[in-house]
Amino acid sequence: MKKFFIILSFGCIVISCGENKDAKQEPAQETKIETPTVDPDVEKGGDLVAKSDCLTCHRVAEKLVGPSYQSVAQRYQATPEVLDTLSDKIIKGGAGRWGAVPMTPHPQVSKEDATTMVKYVLSLKNQ
Ligand code: HEC
Repeated sequence: MKKFFIILSFGCIVISCGENKDAKQEPAQETKIETPTVDPDVEKGGDLVAKSDCLTCHRVAEKLVGPSYQSVAQRYQATPEVLDTLSDKIIKGGAGRWGAVPMTPHPQVSKEDATTMVKYVLSLKNQ
């Protein structure tokens, strides 16, 4: 009789373990991952930056010849004036805001593309 109870309670433990496992898995399956809405300009800007020579001097997280894109994003808010000034700077080049080393001018980049690139750069703040 004693053995019967031991077997019975063992069975219960096995069953309840099984139930627990199911219970643990369920919420994980139901959890919705919120994907932030990506501005299409930001994505396009990333492509433009990758296709141009930007990454020879800039990295997202480390300073290279130029400042890291994260520190640029930390420094500026994406206001229309800032988009205007920074896209001009990409086209015309220049130094003085981050040090004595100048950024080379990019006259082949259109104002529109430069603005799109700046939107991408400034989106990197929270990464
Ligand atoms: C030859 C190296 C070089 C290349 C290539 C380059 N940069 Fe720069 N970039 C720099 C340097 C150096 C600075 C810092 C200039 C300063 O101190 O004002 C800078 C600054 C910047 C800034 C901040 C400007 C400011 O006034 O704060 C942005 C935005 C930027 N670069 C984007 C780009 C993009 C986009 C490209 C590609 C089209 C690019 N850079 C290509 C060297 C480079």
